[in-house]
Amino acid sequence: MNNSIDATVLVVGGAGYIGSHMVKRLSRSGYHVVVLDNLTTGNRSSIKYGEFIQGDLEDKKLINSLFSQYRFLGVFHFAAHSLVGESVHNPSKYYSNNVANTLNLLPESVKPAPTLSLSPPASTF
Ligand SMILES: NC(=O)c1ccc[n+]([C@@H]2O[C@H](COP(=O)([O-])OP(=O)(O)OC[C@H]3O[C@@H](n4cnc5c(N)ncnc54)[C@H](O)[C@@H]3O)[C@@H](O)[C@H]2O)c1
Repeated sequence: MNNSIDATVLVVGGAGYIGSHMVKRLSRSGYHVVVLDNLTTGNRSSIKYGEFIQGDLEDKKLINSLFSQYRFLGVFHFAAHSLVGESVHNPSKYYSNNVANTLNLLPESVKPAPTLSLSPPASTF
């Protein structure tokens, strides 16, 4: 049975632990999935579904070009650092990735895409 859905979703951090499960689930549910990941902690081999784009959430130009290229139905954001101890010792690393980089994604996500799902990092605040 072909359960393909005519809709594309973006999964940022889709090569990571949680993101790769979401990619699998979305693909098996029939969505076309685009994964954006810089592979800092993720693995290329974890991405078994969809399209993979290696890049960083910090790269606003890349984010803008992705949103011009695709009309995403939804955006899932798992690209965060999440080690509580490290966040205490190196808060700026956590601020720039978990807060500032997320702000790069928000304006584009709320324009055409009706859904933005954030996976709340344990160690952002
Ligand atoms: N692991 C858990 O049990 C768990 C439970 C609940 C919520 N979460 C949350 O889910 C999120 C992901 O956690 P995880 O355990 O999957 O971590 P992870 O490190 O396995 O995955 C994060 C992914 O994001 C990518 N990434 C990080 N910064 C990026 C950037 N700037 N640009 C592009 N890609 C980037 C990494 O390469 C990696 O593939 C975190 O917010 C975490 O707090 C995790």
